[in-house]
Amino acid sequence: MTDYRDEAVAPATSIEEFRKIVTSRRSVRRFTDEPVPEDVVEDCLDLAMLAPNSSNLQPWEFYVVREKQVMSQLAEACLGQNAATTAQLLIPIVARSNTWKKNSLRNLDYWPEETMPKIIKTYYSKIALFHYNPGPLGSLGMAKKAMGLLAGLARPVPRGPYGINEMRTWAVKSTALAAQNMMLAFRAHGYDTCPMEGFDERRVNKILALPNDAIVTMILGVGKRAPDGIYHRRYRFPRDEFVHYI
Ligand SMILES: Cc1cc2nc3c(=O)[nH]c(=O)nc-3n(C[C@H](O)[C@H](O)[C@H](O)COP(=O)(O)O)c2cc1C
Repeated sequence: MTDYRDEAVAPATSIEEFRKIVTSRRSVRRFTDEPVPEDVVEDCLDLAMLAPNSSNLQPWEFYVVREKQVMSQLAEACLGQNAATTAQLLIPIVARSNTWKKNSLRNLDYWPEETMPKIIKTYYSKIALFHYNPGPLGSLGMAKKAMGLLAGLARPVPRGPYGINEMRTWAVKSTALAAQNMMLAFRAHGYDTCPMEGFDERRVNKILALPNDAIVTMILGVGKRAPDGIYHRRYRFPRDEFVHYI
């Protein structure tokens, strides 16, 4: 995989191409019946997985659903939204709050350089295993929080993620970035998406037989936009209410 690590200069890119991809991405609620080629889907999955993520612990999973019967079950769980019922495929994007340990140790195996710096080895074999561990029922998280409160009086300290809920937020952050990479990748390939959080979580978890720590961050409907697939012109609130210069 090209990662430009060995290039002296970063490759030339085009802001205009990027702008076209970002501005032409809309949440598309109706899709045509044109299928999405498998190689496009595979490429978008690869690009999603290149998203930045916390400590490279990659707390995400992607379920590519093309099977008609499962799609219709999922569409029903998505409350019958057009974006789900007309999609060519559905991709539930799932955050995992309990894969940090396995993936921390995996970093030791997957390190891509000849030698692993000691600090990296210590990080993935010790520090991360302690830092991300909420302990039974969040007990270790609570203890770490108390220690952090004390130590934090004198100096800056990391403030979590401590408990089980904070680990869920932690996993969702990185997973949402992968979701955005994926939506932009589909757009760059000429396809469209709609991210959906309007679904019955319990039913979706059951349909996909997800483990307890799974959080379905979004379900993407994917396809080619139908002529009436975008419901209205895009708008955002005035930027000066949201952008602060300090
Ligand atoms: C986390 C998330 C959940 C969303 N859930 C839904 C949904 O369930 N159904 C839907 O039609 N759109 C959903 N959307 C799309 C938003 O309504 C849409 O992004 C927003 O109105 C801005 O429009 P745009 O995406 O076309 O720029 C969701 C978007 C995000 C990021």
